[in-house]
Amino acid sequence: MVEFDLDRYLRNSKKVDLSGIEWSRIPDHPLSTGDVMCLHYMMDIETHTVIYLRDLLATRVAIDPQITAFLSCWVYEELWHGEAFSDFLRSYGIEVPAEPKLPDGSTPMPTHPNRWRNLRVRLGVGNGLGILPTMLGSMMTRDFAAIHMMWGAVNELTTLTGYHALMRRCDHPELHKLLRKVIRDERRHFAFYRAQAKARMQRSRVARRLVRSVLKALWTPVGAGVKTEEEVDALALYLFGDGPEGREQIREIDRTISDVPGLDGLTLLEDYLDNALRRVAERPGWAGIQAMPAPVTASANGDAPVPAHWATVGAARDD
Ligand SMILES: [Fe+2]
Ligand SMILES: [Fe+2]
Repeated sequence: MVEFDLDRYLRNSKKVDLSGIEWSRIPDHPLSTGDVMCLHYMMDIETHTVIYLRDLLATRVAIDPQITAFLSCWVYEELWHGEAFSDFLRSYGIEVPAEPKLPDGSTPMPTHPNRWRNLRVRLGVGNGLGILPTMLGSMMTRDFAAIHMMWGAVNELTTLTGYHALMRRCDHPELHKLLRKVIRDERRHFAFYRAQAKARMQRSRVARRLVRSVLKALWTPVGAGVKTEEEVDALALYLFGDGPEGREQIREIDRTISDVPGLDGLTLLEDYLDNALRRVAERPGWAGIQAMPAPVTASANGDAPVPAHWATVGAARDD
């Protein structure tokens, strides 16, 4: 029994509706260096989803038609999350590296081809060697899919909590609008992955043991592997290491994970935060913690046209 209305999700799936954002007002409100760091990180990770999907489909997860139907819509929604952050940063006046422009100043899709190409070449995407261990593992046990489903649940929950944390750290009104819309999608993603993982772990003791041991031994925060350890630490510390509220958000993630059968008592997120704090204490200057972040002022970016593709989304979803 999977506690998720897949039919409803598939019928309602569409690109995130950002038609209410006042794009021309984005440069009017300052972002801190930390805010900009978070937005770059989030943009890169959202856009990297398709590579994660490639690895997933190389496993026996691809046999399950419910999962592949979900993944088909999920990867489309994640692409538009990446585009949303990309357009937001560009409207603010930041584009690293600069991308080719059409004569009217707009940018052809995908909006950051140079950035994505650089990232994927650096990671060695294309040679496929990284897929092999995952494929071999999935051939060994049918419970392997439970690992991917739970891993996805933790990723989605961490992501949406990270967006809430950025709203706490940054009071940019247009960014708040954007994040609220993206968070609604992430909640649905999380609900699917958790329901799939829970159903598989409820029925199988092997799955419960497998998922628990893999998470304990191998889990890393979303974005690790794409980003360096120092970048992951910088993000974790900026969003959650700033005081009791950040720590409470982290504990809430751990509590939600602990509620899944077989995972009681796990404290993956809080352990990571404590380890990041330890690395800072041992290495002064690590993750840029000593420096006082200066505001990144929006450049007088009159030549960045307001992105037009967000106005084309239809009526709001009925969910
Ligand atoms: Fe997303
Ligand atoms: Fe998501």
